[in-house]
Amino acid sequence: MSFNEVLKEIAARGANGFTMEAGDYMQDGLIYCGKCHTPRQARIDLGEGIMLEPPCLCKCRTEERDKEKAADKARAQALENERMRRRCIREEKLLEFTFENDKQPASKYSAIFKRYCDKWEQIKADNIGLILWGDKGRGKSFYAGCICNRLISKGIQAYAITEPQIINDMFKAVDKNEYINRLARYPLLLIDDFGAARATEYSREQIYTIVDERYKANLPTIFTTNLTPAQFDAPDSIAEGRIYDRIKAMGQFIEIKGKNWRQDEASQKAAAFIEIMNGGD
Ligand SMILES: Nc1ncnc2c1ncn2[C@@H]1O[C@H](COP(=O)(O)OP(=O)(O)OP(=O)(O)O)[C@@H](O)[C@H]1O
Ligand SMILES: [Mg+2]
Ligand SMILES: [Zn+2]
Repeated sequence: MSFNEVLKEIAARGANGFTMEAGDYMQDGLIYCGKCHTPRQARIDLGEGIMLEPPCLCKCRTEERDKEKAADKARAQALENERMRRRCIREEKLLEFTFENDKQPASKYSAIFKRYCDKWEQIKADNIGLILWGDKGRGKSFYAGCICNRLISKGIQAYAITEPQIINDMFKAVDKNEYINRLARYPLLLIDDFGAARATEYSREQIYTIVDERYKANLPTIFTTNLTPAQFDAPDSIAEGRIYDRIKAMGQFIEIKGKNWRQDEASQKAAAFIEIMNGGD
């Protein structure tokens, strides 16, 4: 068999697997798709009077295949984002803290923190961190979580952890330097509940190290805290002062005010409980 004969054989086999569909028609010796009216066969001239007419994808089938490919890619991307979200967000409840779940989407806070995400490249270049401070239950962790989730959805590794978790991790870490270096490298680090851990000398030392590494790495860090700016200005000790000083240099203070959302949650629970108790079977 000559090379051309082999090719012809292959083309014939390809054509055998070819099923005409209702509406398809012949034109100039080629099969055309009845839907998009483009050929479902190519014509390749090999010279010496040998013509190959192997099947090919018509326009509508090409579009369908491209759509499937794009959908596959989107699914893979969504899966990868979800994996990254679970790796980066160490605080379970923060997984639910998204701008989509914001119950006050028209608030100034929503606008400010969305903009923070939109302007991320600049925020990162200028190393602008945040210190979200205020009374309990006001939504500090909520909005910090929104920022992390939004950035992660853009493929940016925003790592979220509480201060007590950091201290616990450091205590357990076999290689403490490796742990510190990892936290120092995330493009964004959220330290939730800053100041909540019992301030032992040990814990202060650990937090100082992390804060100092972030400071030196020149990467944005977000803190949420119940401490006030006045308290940041009046540290209890020299060690605390060293931490506060760096945090103040790294971030903007934003007070989160408003109602205590947890009271809302508590009264909803109470109402649900009363309904269950008063209801029939
Ligand atoms: N904008 C919001 N939209 C919907 N739910 C919210 C919003 N803000 C807060 N919540 C809800 O209220 C609860 C308390 O908010 P959050 O945890 O952010 O408080 P916090 O200011 O961090 O308080 P703490 O100082 O005690 O840590 C959250 O669990 C969340 O479910
Ligand atoms: Mg909080
Ligand atoms: Zn077609």
